Amino acid sequence: MSKKVLIKTYGCQMNVYDSSRMRDVLAPLGYEETENIDSADFVILNTCHIREKASEKVYSELGRLRDMKQARAADGRDMMIAVAGCVGQAEGAEITRRNKSVDLVFGPQTYHRLPQLLKLRKESGSAVIETEFDVTDKFLDLDSKPQMATSVSAFLTIQEGCDKFCTFCVVPYTRGTEYSRPMAQIVTEAEKLAAKGVREVTLLGQNVNAYRGEGDNGPESLARLVMRLSLVNGIERIRYVTSHPRDMSDDLIEAHAQNQKLMPYLHLPVQSGNDRILKAMNRGHTAKHYLNIIERMRRQRPDMAISGDFIVGFPGETDGEFQDTLNLLREVNYAAAYSFKYSPRPGTPAAEHNDQISDDIKNQRLQRLQALITAQTSAFNASCLGKSFDVLLEKPGRMAGQLIGRSPYLQSVHLEAKGLKIGHIAKVTIKSVGPNSLSGQYISMSPTQGVPAV
Ligand code: 5AD
Ligand code: SF4
Repeated sequence: MSKKVLIKTYGCQMNVYDSSRMRDVLAPLGYEETENIDSADFVILNTCHIREKASEKVYSELGRLRDMKQARAADGRDMMIAVAGCVGQAEGAEITRRNKSVDLVFGPQTYHRLPQLLKLRKESGSAVIETEFDVTDKFLDLDSKPQMATSVSAFLTIQEGCDKFCTFCVVPYTRGTEYSRPMAQIVTEAEKLAAKGVREVTLLGQNVNAYRGEGDNGPESLARLVMRLSLVNGIERIRYVTSHPRDMSDDLIEAHAQNQKLMPYLHLPVQSGNDRILKAMNRGHTAKHYLNIIERMRRQRPDMAISGDFIVGFPGETDGEFQDTLNLLREVNYAAAYSFKYSPRPGTPAAEHNDQISDDIKNQRLQRLQALITAQTSAFNASCLGKSFDVLLEKPGRMAGQLIGRSPYLQSVHLEAKGLKIGHIAKVTIKSVGPNSLSGQYISMSPTQGVPAV
């Protein structure tokens, strides 16, 4: 009899990838995915530890699951509960201490061992906690499992971990040191995805442009990997996220001019526009260095859409220093950006500073920053009106006969299906612009078009 698993994913795209691989690992054990909690025999929370709010959500969700588990037990039905991801990694046994109904705790580097963990849970009769780091083993193990593709656009993890130790960030502690998958392993995964109808891959890494995976003749760069992947039949679009300014090499910048499969969108977090704050954050670059990268990138690809991450209210940030961040935003002119209030994370150096900023000031700065970002995103979308570009059709729209796809700049584009199918790449002219999406009219099939996918 088939069992049902519900995987709830929090946080970044790497967690989305990990959740999809957990599904692949559980499929041979007879687990089918469900979105309905009432029919789930096994619930996995794939968690995020990056900010306090994200971590807190896990404990409140676990409270609800405990009640549900107890109600079921009264009916003689069981429910397994697992905490996966970065909260699992960071808090380990603390989770089972706080919530006795949790059966399994494991981190981002151990989910490939789910079958063994489940067996151990059954045999031991007590909670199992597994927070080792062995990234090499994980990918070797995952490679042996058939991978499900649920969309024409897929994530593909190529690099994990971070050695940068920004003073605000938990990632080096939860995901470990930088590790790059060998190039051949990634190419094989991309070929398998392409065979299942995937047309676009987004290469994932906490520091994706620090990629140094083994190739035939030693370590390779991200630019060389992108070049190799662009030869995979069926893969028409390549993206990569998230990059660090310190690892933005010339060959990657040039690849944007040379490789038409590499999409003109760069997510390059800067966090702050002020050099003193950048230094206190241990970013290892100045505002000028960052602006210089953007300028070089735009010289290669004038239509490059830039996105970034910002933190407001880092300890000791003055009004003037915050102004520098607004000025940097104005100089770059972002297509999109993500902004966060600084959240002190246990174990990170910045959390120990005694000049923490009040929540009031953080809120005010966040509002001002977000108003500017919204204005820039609207202006960027408005600039697309009347332009024509390729759209990869990804899913049905809300209205009958409508499809939704993505522009090269990652905007959602709605259009009338008119014989088009998911997986097609269509040339589209933008006819109207809303706050969060564009609407377009089909002109022709893109010349890069291969066989329809789904
Ligand atoms: N507080 C607020 N934002 C944070 N980020 C990382 N750590 C913190 C923190 N402690 C943000 C950064 C990063 C993004 C993924 O999350 O902007 O780029
Ligand atoms: Fe965190 Fe900095 Fe590493 Fe990004 S580069 S994951 S912000 S430590």
